[in-house]
Amino acid sequence: MHGSGSSMKRLLTWATLVGSMSAVTKAACPFADPNYHLAKRDEGASQQTENILEEYEVDDSNAYMSSDVGGPMEDQNSLKAGYRGSTLMEDWIFRQKIQHFDHERIPERAVHARGAGAHGTFTSYADWSNITAASFLGGAGKKTPVFVRFSTVAGSRGSADTARDVHGFATRFYTDEGNFDIVGNNIPVFFIQDAIRFPDLIHSVKPSPDNEVPQAATAHDSAWDFFSQQPSTMHTLFWAMSGNGIPRSYRHMDGFGVHTFRFVTDDGNSKLIKWHFKTKQGKASLVWEEAQVLAGKNADFHRQDLWDAIESGNGPEWELSVQIVDEEKALAFGFDLLDPTKIIPEELAPLVPLGIMKLDRNPTNYFAETEQVMYQPGHIVRGVDFTEDPLLQGRLFSYLDTQLNRNQGGPNFEQIPINRPVSPVHNNNRDGAGQMLIHKNVYPYTPNTLNGGYPLQANQTHGKGFFTAPNRIVDGKLVRALSPTFDDHWSQPRLFYNSLTRVEQQFLINAIRFEASHLKNEQVKKNVLEQINRVSNDVAKRVAVALGLEAPAPDPAFYHNNVTAGLSIFNGTLPTIATLRVGVLASSFNDGSLAQARELKEQLSKEGVVVTVVGEVLKEGVDQTYSAADATGYDAVVVTDGAEGLLTGGKNSPLFPAGRPGQILVDSYRWGKPVAAVGENSGQALEQTVGVSRGQDEGVVVGEGVEQVVKGVEEGLRVFRYLGRFPVDEGAE
Ligand code: HEM
Repeated sequence: MHGSGSSMKRLLTWATLVGSMSAVTKAACPFADPNYHLAKRDEGASQQTENILEEYEVDDSNAYMSSDVGGPMEDQNSLKAGYRGSTLMEDWIFRQKIQHFDHERIPERAVHARGAGAHGTFTSYADWSNITAASFLGGAGKKTPVFVRFSTVAGSRGSADTARDVHGFATRFYTDEGNFDIVGNNIPVFFIQDAIRFPDLIHSVKPSPDNEVPQAATAHDSAWDFFSQQPSTMHTLFWAMSGNGIPRSYRHMDGFGVHTFRFVTDDGNSKLIKWHFKTKQGKASLVWEEAQVLAGKNADFHRQDLWDAIESGNGPEWELSVQIVDEEKALAFGFDLLDPTKIIPEELAPLVPLGIMKLDRNPTNYFAETEQVMYQPGHIVRGVDFTEDPLLQGRLFSYLDTQLNRNQGGPNFEQIPINRPVSPVHNNNRDGAGQMLIHKNVYPYTPNTLNGGYPLQANQTHGKGFFTAPNRIVDGKLVRALSPTFDDHWSQPRLFYNSLTRVEQQFLINAIRFEASHLKNEQVKKNVLEQINRVSNDVAKRVAVALGLEAPAPDPAFYHNNVTAGLSIFNGTLPTIATLRVGVLASSFNDGSLAQARELKEQLSKEGVVVTVVGEVLKEGVDQTYSAADATGYDAVVVTDGAEGLLTGGKNSPLFPAGRPGQILVDSYRWGKPVAAVGENSGQALEQTVGVSRGQDEGVVVGEGVEQVVKGVEEGLRVFRYLGRFPVDEGAE
């Protein structure tokens, strides 16, 4: 991080911390005690969740139909009084089947209703007992099963995956000392600073209460009315308006715990930490128009992508890291670590990688697993502790409470197979709807003598129990107010904006223009400009132009030129292209084209690239018809030699919508994707279709042979999007 500016002076006191924290590595930790050994409960691989879930699996192959209580029966015709008579009350088979159907639906999540999940494993890089007593971090190579659910926030359960939104990134670790959840997002900050405002935030972004419009979108007056009246939203809003709001896939985004948490060692030493999941696939995002088209063409784009990647053996990976800060440094950086609208720039507290998470198993049943998983920030284990962040504090109530609603009032949802821990459960919680356990202890109270005092209380020194960091001290007058240390809402959105590439900045501005142009209320528009102007006059001016409004004069109190690393999505290349998708445009009626398509597929598949050969009609060697194909389906497109007629002469055919083959190229090009052609004729047709001349655009590859084109396409996939094709406002700062 570098630069100048008044507000950044506060941030620049970081250097001391960077020095002390960079020493925290796996090999040598400054607070390590070499003589200390964590008593590990489970030295080997953890008992897999798979075993637990398998117990409940139902295999219908080779079985007779039975009732819910196991009696074989038939259920295709109801019992009637004669062939043409009414159905009888006696028909228990009818009643049972219909009653169950009538009650199939449970309330969707109040937020994050739309999502997809997968199983996997977390492997710790080392024994981290020098910084945390958390058992899943207690040994090199120690494996812990996980279940991760990704989601969008605002849309209902059937909404489109590619709606612009913050994305949920909720991870459950089934540790051998109980379930531990990091219920995080793909954006490291949040809109508000006190949980009591959460209903206001959500009411403002959800569809209008009268007509329930619009679905899964913030491009409406109430959302921006709230954003502009509640400036703590600015930072998260800037992130959501950038590519982070429209990731290429769940696999191409990072995850964050957002709040500051605590690590606590067995002997009670604590440090402040922030959780980061860094994607090993590289960060990548869609462009907005593509995301919008996808919302209609394939509402399941992200869940399908995750599913397919795992099925093809390319399960995604994330490195779990933490930023660690001394307790007394909570206010040392010019902002408050209890404020969830702030990041700790990496330059101040480097990321310490703790382990690797890989997702490699799809759920067996969406409802049983993905829908019924109940994450809670309050699912915590020994070695981790909360902070006083008022957003976190409120979440500790909300999830537990709402899940009672999702489980139709029954408190036993932790007994549902996907929620069961791999460690045993012993407590005096009893009864309730759907109780699945048969408790033998008839003395369910503590203290007792009649059950020998069991279950015993586990704490810091006995039974390796959870304990609150002993050094946590809180005192003060009762106040119904936010801390004045939470007041700066504008320096960090500016830091974010400054840290993007020029074209990414343009994308962000375009996204705000898009949203704000949907606003009907003139006052809301002005309020929006006023808030943006506190972050940047450049952004405010450029948004104002599109709204036909006068730009406000600079409001420079929080302006600065600092930047920080790691925030841009587009300024690097992807570390892997496996699972990216290439469309090969062929002609079903040209054998040469099909032979070349086959060769392209063979070559590209070697790198794990998924190739779809498109033709006019399905036949051997053609995977998809032009009528069902479009640019959203591919990360790159190649035209085969022999298919050029589809771009020029044969544009129209009853076999596909007018001009579809060319449209695939035009859209791919407009959305920044690499496009390629094999052979001179198709090369010329490609260049003519997308409107470039030879050598003018490095993402347009024309090669004589397959090998050359494959090389160019692979390189193009690594670049992912050619940002030079996107115009930037004239005179942009
Ligand atoms: C840092 C801020 C927050 C983050 C990172 C966050 C993240 C998440 C995630 C990832 C989910 C989906 C979990 C799943 O996949 O099942 C979720 C659900 C939910 N969140 Fe939050 N959230 C935040 C703030 C809040 C606040 C302040 C509240 C309320 C005071 C809240 C209430 C809820 C509720 C009610 C659900 C539905 C839970 C369920 O039905 O299981 N969230 N949140």
